Amino acid sequence: MAQTGNFKSPARMGTLGGSAEVSSSGAVSGGKPRETGLKGVDFERRGFLHKVVGGVGAIVAASTLYPVVKYIIPPVKEIKMVNEIKAGPASEVPDGSGKIYQFNEDKVIVVNKGGTLTAVSAVCTHLGCLVHWENAANELACPCHGAKYKQTGEIISGPQPKPLKIYKAKIDGDTIVITKA
Ligand code: FES
Repeated sequence: MAQTGNFKSPARMGTLGGSAEVSSSGAVSGGKPRETGLKGVDFERRGFLHKVVGGVGAIVAASTLYPVVKYIIPPVKEIKMVNEIKAGPASEVPDGSGKIYQFNEDKVIVVNKGGTLTAVSAVCTHLGCLVHWENAANELACPCHGAKYKQTGEIISGPQPKPLKIYKAKIDGDTIVITKA
């Protein structure tokens, strides 16, 4: 069956312009020039589309990257500096135990030994590990490299260069209060 609508048909040739010639490859030469925009204004569609696609791409990229950047760079948490804190109820540190509390930018360990409350920095002065109270040995011990401190922060043994920073602790009513020394 003969195929209708052939590209080289005379009817089709007529729509390509009066003098259009078709080469053997099907290319058209001498056809009508591409139409300009409304009333002669050269409507640069390609440039316009590039701007639209670029703008949409930038918005998508920004909305994708923003949460990633916010995740990687967490907000700076400001610590309000104080001279004294109500750390918690006295029952949190029974006789023979120690408990660590946040105090400004430091961590402070409150130790209760026979009813005597002491408070020193819990941050080992060697490389910054947190010490804990060893009641049987009657000392603060660092788990990282074996530093030992007295309840009052002085050095017993180990690689640490300095004693622990001293604070004051007391029971006020039923609350442990830590203050700067
Ligand atoms: S960090 Fe405590 S002994 Fe090294």
